[in-house]
Amino acid sequence: MNVLIIGLGYAGTRFSQAFSNLDPAVTGNEPVEIAYVNRSPKSNGYRYFSDIETALKEFEPAVVVVSVNDEYHIDVIKQLRGYRGFVICEKPLVHPQDDLDEVEASLKHTSGFALDLVERYSDASITLKQYVKDHNLRLVRANFYWGKDRINDHRPTSGVISEIIHPLDLVQWVSGGDAELELKDLQGIRSDFSISGTAVLDSAAITANLAGAVVTGYSSFVNILRKREVDLVFASPANKLIFATMIFDTPVWDIDYLRIWEKTNTGERVIVDLKTEIDESRPELNTIRKLIRLVGDAAGFAASGAEPSQPFADLPSSLKLQKLLNRIDADARTIGPVQYVVGSEREFFNDETNWERLG
Ligand SMILES: NC(=O)c1ccc[n+]([C@@H]2O[C@H](COP(=O)([O-])OP(=O)(O)OC[C@H]3O[C@@H](n4cnc5c(N)ncnc54)[C@H](O)[C@@H]3O)[C@@H](O)[C@H]2O)c1
Repeated sequence: MNVLIIGLGYAGTRFSQAFSNLDPAVTGNEPVEIAYVNRSPKSNGYRYFSDIETALKEFEPAVVVVSVNDEYHIDVIKQLRGYRGFVICEKPLVHPQDDLDEVEASLKHTSGFALDLVERYSDASITLKQYVKDHNLRLVRANFYWGKDRINDHRPTSGVISEIIHPLDLVQWVSGGDAELELKDLQGIRSDFSISGTAVLDSAAITANLAGAVVTGYSSFVNILRKREVDLVFASPANKLIFATMIFDTPVWDIDYLRIWEKTNTGERVIVDLKTEIDESRPELNTIRKLIRLVGDAAGFAASGAEPSQPFADLPSSLKLQKLLNRIDADARTIGPVQYVVGSEREFFNDETNWERLG
């Protein structure tokens, strides 16, 4: 199976590792061949193409991964017009200024599409989603806190919309139903945290409605410690309150936690208490354990039409999420800009071993 990765930086490299570590049965034992398009070639042994058109023509990929920086997604997507294979696109789908009709038209011939919303592949979110469905729970209230530190990171970014997309998706994903999140109040903070500008939206706080439930949350790219938590309160058909909390990538990447419980006269009845297990014997899978599930689903679907383990974050749902992000970007009442460049020039730290640079 030929896989073309467009943009081989941090995210693209993780995709190459995930595809390289796939169970061969997923592709019907067809070996995975990786090629890539990047601004410059790398010494990694993979076939390099300097442009997308030649790569599509000569390599004929069954799967294309779009993992260039946010602001270039649209250029790449436009060049995929007419492509008939499967596309995996890094989040966010595009930059807020980009034309969504153009995105839709460019990708309309693809055999399948998945936005990389990797937390959908966590055992925590999968288990909660299933529990909510099996017990017919109705969301009453949700609150999230989702942040990490990207201050003075060398990579360009569209800002906090690239981070808040995860909890916005998760709340809707686990609670099920077709209702769309309606954003209400939006507040934000701008800063020069990124090389992408002097007043990029680095954090956002939202209030929203989801099928009668109230959703609130805060997300940030300048949170000095990684924190990824979603709390939810549901009502059961027996009119009991059911509580759930999900914590992701804590204390290390890929370790996720889910607790579901109800209150009783004598305390609590714990319904689910789950912490994801890591197979320590396979360190090559560090940080890609959820990604490899998405990649396996995409490769299986592309190879034989196999049903994915989770429904893909397909193009219609990705476009809906993008519209929410565009509203946050355009309409948040903001304060700032905060100045993180406190000296005469920006200070970069090039610690290649720092996993905090992921995500
Ligand atoms: N899902 C996640 O948790 C997650 C994690 C990290 C990054 N991302 C996303 O992945 C994307 C890439 O981020 P990154 O951290 O890997 O950035 P990066 O800067 O490390 O890598 C981007 C790569 O794309 C290449 N590139 C840029 N424009 C190109 C173009 N027009 N044609 C060909 N190559 C091009 C660059 O040379 C670079 O190698 C972003 O959209 C980011 O939001 C998602």
